[in-house]
Amino acid sequence: MASNQSVLSIENLQAGYGGVRVLHGVSMTVKERSVTVLLGTNGNGKSTLLKCLAGLVTPDAGSAKLSDDGAGVELAGMHPYEIVEAGVSLVPDGRRLFPLLTVEENLLMGAFKKSARKRHKENLKSMGELFPVLRERKGQLAGTLSGGEQQMLAIARALMSNPKLLLIDEPSLGLAPIVITKLMSTIKELRDKYGLTILMTEQNLPQAAKIADWGYIMVHGKIVFAGDAQQIHDNELVRRYYLVG
Ligand SMILES: Nc1ncnc2c1ncn2[C@@H]1O[C@H](COP(=O)(O)OP(=O)(O)OP(=O)(O)O)[C@@H](O)[C@H]1O
Ligand SMILES: [Mg+2]
Repeated sequence: MASNQSVLSIENLQAGYGGVRVLHGVSMTVKERSVTVLLGTNGNGKSTLLKCLAGLVTPDAGSAKLSDDGAGVELAGMHPYEIVEAGVSLVPDGRRLFPLLTVEENLLMGAFKKSARKRHKENLKSMGELFPVLRERKGQLAGTLSGGEQQMLAIARALMSNPKLLLIDEPSLGLAPIVITKLMSTIKELRDKYGLTILMTEQNLPQAAKIADWGYIMVHGKIVFAGDAQQIHDNELVRRYYLVG
């Protein structure tokens, strides 16, 4: 279960595209060995926040500190490859696999980080144990996998860099409910068995609430509510406006 130590502390993060501000001072923390979920409907800035953390969007102001055994590393303004080196890996929205490469080739693309290159063989083996379906299909082109298998591959590819903080952008998108249930239990296993810290965005509140230790709701680039899974699920505003049928 989650420890009290923060792996990530975000303070007053502001970001946007050109003149358009999308994140208006976001503050949140992610505890070690937790699944923290960032909820919000379309266009509220969830992906923009994850992109800031991964170095794909440069924040205009604020801070995102990755605590690295006591000494915080400031992610804001770092290059994507430096952020991967620091132990943060992003599973982007829509998976973004290389459809014409095989499953194994996609996995190897995730092992670009210097320290991970040396360990690619043992990491490939662990990914096969964690996701047996990927081992069975290692020679298959990624573009021909089912949606659920593609999401597993996208997660496994991100894990090939041995992150301590995994960012997952809307993993349930476009998947059938039963596949989402399986995916959520895999994400839970990453926390429980492998000690990973996970920050995930979602629109699917009921499914995310099943595994989340803590959740935040984002509306128009601001955090409007924070609480544990039960508090989020029971919140009247959330129930009315967000994602509960
Ligand atoms: N590259 C870009 N250039 C300009 N505007 C962008 C860009 N990417 C996102 N935006 C805008 O930023 C806002 C927030 O988008 P973002 O993708 O962060 O939302 P989201 O919460 O992830 O939505 P969704 O649930 O649909 O994925 C939107 O208004 C969007 O149009
Ligand atoms: Mg998004």
